[in-house]
Amino acid sequence: MTTDEARGKPNAVPPDHPVAGIEEDHSSVRDHIEEIAAARTCAALVAALDGLPAELEAHFAREESDEGYFADIGQRRPAVSPQLQAFRDEHRAMLEQLEGVCGQLAGRGEGADDEIPPPIHDAVTQWLEKLRGHELEESRIIADVYYSDEGGYG
Ligand SMILES: [Fe+2]
Repeated sequence: MTTDEARGKPNAVPPDHPVAGIEEDHSSVRDHIEEIAAARTCAALVAALDGLPAELEAHFAREESDEGYFADIGQRRPAVSPQLQAFRDEHRAMLEQLEGVCGQLAGRGEGADDEIPPPIHDAVTQWLEKLRGHELEESRIIADVYYSDEGGYG
């Protein structure tokens, strides 16, 4: 550890750490969120959602895996276990809701350049809020456990 790190300056996440790659995942999710929120037509929304279900599924699986940070945080801080279970439940619910939205859009066929129908727009807006809040809460817990408590990711 360098002197700066010893003083509490943020250090890099080692490649074998439970949160390795998570910030990159969250940054990619944020990009999707911006693109989805900016979509004004069904076609733009379909394009913005393209690949997201598979990406989120892989991201959630990474968080929930035996080597992932949910398991590690659960061991370090058993008191956080109910919150971690809530995250897992939210993962399932968000994937299901996303599938529902994608299914509604797929059924629109020729009208893809139409404006997004209000029920779909509302469902997407609510879903985005949920995803934003969820990822923010995860980032807060990661910062709490690994940075505030442990002094870094080492
Ligand atoms: Fe996440």
